[in-house]
Formats: sequence, structure tokens, C-alpha cells
Amino acid sequence: MAISIEPLTPAIGAVIAGVDLAQPVDDDTFHAVEAAMLTHQVVFLRDQAVTEQQQRDFAARFGPLHIHPIYPRSDSVPEIMLLDTALNDLRDNALWHSDVSFLETPSLGAVLLARKLPPLGGDTLWASATAAYDALPDTLKAYLGTLSAIHDLAKSFPAERFESDALAAAKRNNPPVVHPVIRTHPVTGKKAIFVSEGFTTGIVGMDPTLAGPLLAMLYTHVTRPEFTVRWKWRVGDVAIWDNRVTQHYATYDYGNAHRVMNRATMMGDKPF
Ligand code: OGA
Ligand code: MN
Repeated sequence: MAISIEPLTPAIGAVIAGVDLAQPVDDDTFHAVEAAMLTHQVVFLRDQAVTEQQQRDFAARFGPLHIHPIYPRSDSVPEIMLLDTALNDLRDNALWHSDVSFLETPSLGAVLLARKLPPLGGDTLWASATAAYDALPDTLKAYLGTLSAIHDLAKSFPAERFESDALAAAKRNNPPVVHPVIRTHPVTGKKAIFVSEGFTTGIVGMDPTLAGPLLAMLYTHVTRPEFTVRWKWRVGDVAIWDNRVTQHYATYDYGNAHRVMNRATMMGDKPF
């Protein structure tokens, strides 16, 4: 079956048809998916009956995989992280963020599979931080290019919702890190705004009274509807996103309904 790629908005998102991740994926197909991810920043595949092993093995073709310091993982495939409302309070993903930006080398991207969904709600949104950057005035682009920001795991894992030993160890092992406010994509060369509400806590050398409003302005700008796409999940959907140049937001509008997502996370390199 031929691969087709249907963009969802001018800025971000595309649906890929004609790829079955439950079958061996040849190199040409993999490279077509990878190229679509680089172009559209998040891509969606329907009806993927993948096992945890297949999801892990596919994700590993993008690069080495990351094991999360806090979220639970599959017993049999530790690189599969479980976002299961029965295991964790997941309200903290209802905040715009770029995954694990609290690491010196945040993730390249992720492969997320919908396993169980609420009857209604639980959509996920992605925003293009390159489209947002491109829309800035040149003088502001130049100024932001001189700044670095602080990212801290503690901001998105409140002590009252995460088991204290794991959280304490994760905080010890992950002190705050500094990344450029504007990063350059290592493959496409595009520039992106790389601060997000989830993990950014300040700007290096700037008083919080100035940094706070400046960051808030950037968070609002990146997530303007024009730069976003909203996905309504069906069980078996897979989303693959480029975490270097996007932010995402998992809506929490489904009360106590059970929602289970499996994520494989690819390691990235140090932002520059
Ligand atoms: C993630 C996340 C998305 C979702 O997987 O990184 O933030 O839809 N959640 O649960
Ligand atoms: Mn996330």
C-alpha cells in the first residue's frame, strides 16, 4: 500500500496512511515517516495494533530510548512508559510542555499509542514552536537569541501527586539545567522557541519580575491556535512528534474515566 501524508493545518500536524507498524517496517517506509515528522512536527497513524515490543523497536530506529525517572513503565518492556490514570494523577500533562526539557539532552521525540480512552475528551494538542518563532518581529528574535532559560523537573511533578521517594531521587539526579531560549533544530536548521510552562522556571541573569512576564508572553504566543493542532484519539492511534520544536498539552476534561497511553521516548541532543 502506498504511503499518503495529509497535512492537518498549515503550521503543524499530518495524518499518515498506508503504514502498519505491526508489520516489519522497511527502511524506505521508516525514512518517509521520519521525513514527515520533520516536516509536520507531529504525525498521526490510525489503527496500529502494535505490541509494546513493536512500539519500542520502531521508536528505537529514531535513536536511543529514554527511561523516565518518575512515570511507571511496562514490566516486560521498560522503555515503554505508562501514562495510565489508574496509576498516576496525570493532571500535570494538562500544561503546555516539551517533554523532559529538564534534561541536559531533552528528548528528540516520542511515539505515543492510545490504549484506552474516555468516552469523550482527553484530546491532545501540539504547538509548533518554529511557526511561533517565525511570526516574531526580527528585533525580538534577535534579543531572545541572546537569552538562556532554566528548566526544572520539580515544576511539573508536584510533591503532593507523586510518590515521594521516586520524586526525591529524581530531583537529586536532575538538578535544574540551562538551555537557549531559541534553539536550532539539528537536522532542519529551523529555529524554535524553547521555553514552556511545564518546566521553565526563569531566565538566566534576569530578575523574575521581568523574566516572568517575558516567559508568560512567549508561552501565550507559542500556543496561539494558528500554531496548534488538536487530535481526537481513537484506540490504536499512534502520534509521533518532534519534541525539539513542539510543545504539547494533554487535556484533562474526562473526570474519573480511565485513559491509558503508552509512550516510547527517543533521546535527543543538547540544544544549541
Ligand atoms: C506525553 C504527554 C500526552 C497524552 O505523552 O508526553 O504529555 O495525550 N501526554 O497523554
Ligand atoms: Mn508530554
